[in-house]
Amino acid sequence: MKRILAIGASSSSNSINKEFASYAANLVSLKNEVIELDLRQYEMPIYSEDLQNLSGIPKKAFDFKSEISNSDALVISLAEHNGSYTAAFKNIYDWISVIEADVWCSKPILLLSTSTGARGGKTVLDTAHSRFSRNYKFKIPFFSLPNFNNNFDSAEGIIDIRLNQDFQAVLIDFENIINES
Ligand SMILES: Cc1cc2nc3c(=O)[nH]c(=O)nc-3n(C[C@H](O)[C@H](O)[C@H](O)COP(=O)(O)O)c2cc1C
Repeated sequence: MKRILAIGASSSSNSINKEFASYAANLVSLKNEVIELDLRQYEMPIYSEDLQNLSGIPKKAFDFKSEISNSDALVISLAEHNGSYTAAFKNIYDWISVIEADVWCSKPILLLSTSTGARGGKTVLDTAHSRFSRNYKFKIPFFSLPNFNNNFDSAEGIIDIRLNQDFQAVLIDFENIINES
């Protein structure tokens, strides 16, 4: 049994990215255990080098990092705010990036994004994919779902046939990477 961490990179209580990350993680295989992380439990002061030197790294950053290291794979779905990461996600990312260089503990990652708009958070997805892939142990499959409210149904999943085909292909890539890891 594999432990898959589903992270919606948003602090919104009704985040569509949380929903999408959990949906994708639960599709990987019925034998997996899916753990959903809520970013609101990892709220910390805004990262600064001065603060780190003064008070050290907050416990919540180590807690977040433990969740990563105790998992077998990560599904991260990114919300896009003004063309970039949400402040909630970026702050956690900054804090865990000063714990050790291997931020994502060399776990297989599936990177997703969705938004209510036509680009589906593609700008932040491209940013993350480029950054996370740098010298990474695994290829990182990625997929962006545009117009979430029209293209996703909580019971049926991705409604658009073409988008769903692309998504399923990305999921198969991710499963193969997990199985080889
Ligand atoms: C401050 C703010 C900035 C946003 N900027 C973008 C953006 O740059 N691109 C985009 O596609 N959607 C943008 N949106 C719309 C979000 O994609 C939409 O609110 C989506 O639901 C956020 O995902 P979440 O529900 O997982 O938090 C923005 C929303 C907010 C509140």
